[in-house]
Amino acid sequence: MPVLVIVGAQWGDEGKGKIVDVLTEKADIVARYQGGHNAGHTVVINNSKFVLHLIPSGILHKNTVCIIGNGVVVEPKALIEEITDLKKRGIKVSGNLIISRNAHLIMPYHLIIDSASEKTKGKKCIGTTGRGIGPTYVDKMARTGIRVGDLLNPEAFREKLRTNLRHVNFMMKNLYNMPAFKEKKIFDEYMGYAGTLRKYIADTDVIINKAIAEKKNLLLEGAQGTLLDIDHGTYPFVTSSNSIAGGACTGLGIGPTKINSVIGIVKAYTTRVGSGPFPTELHDEIGASMREKGGEFGATTGRPRRCGWLDTVILKHSTAVNGFSGIVITKLDILDGLDTIKICTSYRYKGKKYTDMPKDLAILENCTPVYEEVRGWRENTRGITDFRKLPGQAQSYIRKIEELIGVKIVIVSTGQKRDELIMLQEQF
Ligand code: GDP
Ligand code: IMO
Ligand code: MG
Repeated sequence: MPVLVIVGAQWGDEGKGKIVDVLTEKADIVARYQGGHNAGHTVVINNSKFVLHLIPSGILHKNTVCIIGNGVVVEPKALIEEITDLKKRGIKVSGNLIISRNAHLIMPYHLIIDSASEKTKGKKCIGTTGRGIGPTYVDKMARTGIRVGDLLNPEAFREKLRTNLRHVNFMMKNLYNMPAFKEKKIFDEYMGYAGTLRKYIADTDVIINKAIAEKKNLLLEGAQGTLLDIDHGTYPFVTSSNSIAGGACTGLGIGPTKINSVIGIVKAYTTRVGSGPFPTELHDEIGASMREKGGEFGATTGRPRRCGWLDTVILKHSTAVNGFSGIVITKLDILDGLDTIKICTSYRYKGKKYTDMPKDLAILENCTPVYEEVRGWRENTRGITDFRKLPGQAQSYIRKIEELIGVKIVIVSTGQKRDELIMLQEQF
């Protein structure tokens, strides 16, 4: 399966980073197709922890080319910091990282607009990461965005910046009551970044399509998760890009016929950061213990993640909109020691049963989840690498999920480290 897409099946933080790192061993290219440094992907190798935000998690393998695709939004300062940190830790970046000329730049005013617009929403805020993601995609769609390639053409960059600042500074003054942005300051700052980033910039669609033609192994990495997708998530409590598998085509410039498989990453329970509906959320000690044991605190903002039981209603929606060909279950070990485990199989709202995810947010926010209760296991599953060595109840839990979603489980992850995993079906 030479071209494989990795997608989060829930609200992000499913453990995509770990799985991408593991699968990179056999990949020639790993390419990120959307999102920005709102993502936080933690990878643990031996006893070293790496948190990647913008650079694909494949960078930790020295022979893999990593691409930041046209669908990604790039904050150059954050990117340079990430490059510098990786280099300091002995990771090879030069020669291994390529950034699309067509990726859009996050500008200083995008960050300010993100937080100012959250503030004006008050209680109804989305709970964004405050990284300027939404406003950058707004400019992209309004065709006023500034792209990575513009860094290489100072005069074009200055012209676009000048035009945008007219509008931005009007908003700063009249809507947000904040100081104006200065063109020269931003221009000088970004031209400084241009010097550092110049050598990484290229036409990545050409490189990717050439690699596909040469039958190379490609891993296409999505950030966030399906329920955070701008079209198919819990809008408006979503991020501003298409995180689903289809986003890999637009975010990298490849045709759908070139994709051979789509792997959904599913956490053995559910988490969410930020606001928005979450039918199986637990406000009790089980939710708190998932958070503690699972280290469920945002890798980007440090916020505690909301935790709850596995929800197969949303997973069936995810399966449909992504066309999953396989599923990876992560963090099984976090459920060790529970007497019983609940799996949500439908919702109830005003006497009606819902087995398909309701698109009406009012229903999703107020429905009652209907659970199937299964027996838990007392044994420790951490680090188990052979499916037959899992406790019987853990095996049944996995088979039950497979049956409810109707997609084959190909990997089970049993710990943070690279080798803490059960490979049921090789991916390349
Ligand atoms: P991502 O955004 O999808 O890459 O996920 P995050 O990195 O934000 O969050 C997943 C967290 O769970 C990270 O700290 C991972 O190191 C950790 N993790 C991944 N898989 C497993 C697993 O199977 N067991 C345990 N205990 N931790 C895991
Ligand atoms: P990874 O790739 C979890 C959430 C934010 C907020 C909403 C919109 O690590 O899984 P944004 O800053 O994107 O405008 O915020 O999306 N969010 C994530 N939640 N994991 C992520 O990325 C996320 N990226 C954004 O918390 O609710
Ligand atoms: Mg994350």
